[in-house]
Amino acid sequence: MGETVHVDLGARSYDVRIGTGLIERAGQAIAPLLKRPRVAVLTDETVGALHLDALRAGLGDVAMTALALPAGEATKGWDQFSRAVDWLLAEKVERRDVVIAFGGGVIGDLAGFAAAVLRRGVRFVQIPTSLLAQVDSSVGGKTGINSTHGKNLIGAFHQPALVLADIGVLGTLTPRDFLSGYGEVVKYGLLGDAAFFDWLEGNGPALAAGDLALRQYAVRRSVEMKARIVERDETEEGDRALLNLGHTFCHALETATGYSGRLLHGEGVAIGCALAFELSQRMGLCSQEEPSRVRAHLKAMGMKADLADIPGDLPDADGLLALMAQDKKVVDGKLRFILARGIGEAFVASDVPGDVVKPVLEAALRAR
Ligand SMILES: NC(=O)c1ccc[n+]([C@@H]2O[C@H](COP(=O)([O-])OP(=O)(O)OC[C@H]3O[C@@H](n4cnc5c(N)ncnc54)[C@H](O)[C@@H]3O)[C@@H](O)[C@H]2O)c1
Repeated sequence: MGETVHVDLGARSYDVRIGTGLIERAGQAIAPLLKRPRVAVLTDETVGALHLDALRAGLGDVAMTALALPAGEATKGWDQFSRAVDWLLAEKVERRDVVIAFGGGVIGDLAGFAAAVLRRGVRFVQIPTSLLAQVDSSVGGKTGINSTHGKNLIGAFHQPALVLADIGVLGTLTPRDFLSGYGEVVKYGLLGDAAFFDWLEGNGPALAAGDLALRQYAVRRSVEMKARIVERDETEEGDRALLNLGHTFCHALETATGYSGRLLHGEGVAIGCALAFELSQRMGLCSQEEPSRVRAHLKAMGMKADLADIPGDLPDADGLLALMAQDKKVVDGKLRFILARGIGEAFVASDVPGDVVKPVLEAALRAR
C-alpha cells in the first residue's frame, strides 16, 4: 500500500510517495516530469551496487545514465561536488531535464545542490534509500555540502519535484545505518508529537527488526511532521529550526570526531536530543524524568545515548562549546538551542548563554 504526503509550497509543491515497489515503478512516476525520456542519476557506490539495476529496470523506457560517488560523509565536499557537476554537464543534462538523487542524505544533499546550480537550476527527484534520507533529508529542499569550516555551510534551498520513498530498499541498510536514521525519527516524537514517541517506545524494536508496515507508518508520520513545518517556514526564519532539535550538540560532536565512522549523523542527533533534554531539565523547563525517558528509549533500541558511547577522545567542555559557536545556528554570538518543556513540546531558544550549557557538557564528559 502506498501513501502520499503532499508538501504544499505554492509553485514549488510536490508529493512524497511512501510505500513498497516504488523503485520497480519509478518510470511511471517520473515520466510525467520529463520533456524527453532520459534522466541522470547520482548515487553512491554502495547503493549503486545494490539497487541501480532495479532502478534501471523500474525506469523502463526512460534512458538512464549514472555516476556513483564514494559512499560516506567525506563525499559531501567540493571535490566530489565539482566532479558531479562536471559529469552532469558532460552528460549534456539540459535546463529542462531531471536529475535523480538515489542514495542516502549525502547523495541527496550533494545531488540537490548540484541540481540547484547546474545551468542556474534544474529539477531533481529524490529517491532516498536510507531511513534518515526518507524521514528527513529528502524532504524540505535543504541541499548542500560541508566546508572545512563546518557542516552544511555551503548550499541552497532547492525543493525536489518528487520524492519516492521506497520502504523495501531499507532492508539492505546495515543495522547501524538503520538505527542512525532512527535517531531522526525519535527526534520528531520528541519535538512535537508525544503520542508518536509513545508509539515508538512500543513499536521501535519490531520496526528495527524489519516490520514493513511499522516502518512505513514511522516514515509517513515523520514526513508529515516535516512537511507541515516546512510549509509554515520554508527558509528557516522561525519554526523550521525545531527540526534542529539535538543538532547544535550533534554538529559539534561530528566536527570533533572528524565526520568519521566514530559517529554517524543520526547517532549524533540522538545523543544531541538527550543532551538537549538534559539542558532543558537543568534550566528548570522539564522534569528529571524526561531526559531519562529519552535515554531509556535510545538504549532499549541499542543506540548511542551518551557522550560515553562515542569511542576515542573528545575535546573538553570549552572545546565543544567553541565548536558549537561555529555552527550556523549562532546569531550575534548567542547560541540557538532547541529546548523542551517536555516530550513533544520543543521550542526555539535563541539566547542560551554558554555558561548554562557548559555544566551539561562537563557532566556528560565526566561520565565517559
Ligand atoms: N538536507 C537535509 O534537510 C538534511 C537533513 C538531515 C540530514 N542531512 C544530511 O544527511 C547526511 C546523512 O544521511 P545518511 O545517514 O543517509 O548518510 P549516507 O548518505 O552516508 O548513507 C549512510 C550509509 O548508508 C548507505 N546506504 C544508503 N542507502 C542504503 C541502502 N538502501 N542499503 C545499503 N546501504 C545504504 C550509504 O552508502 C552510506 O554508506 C548528512 O550529511 C546530513 O547532514 C540533511
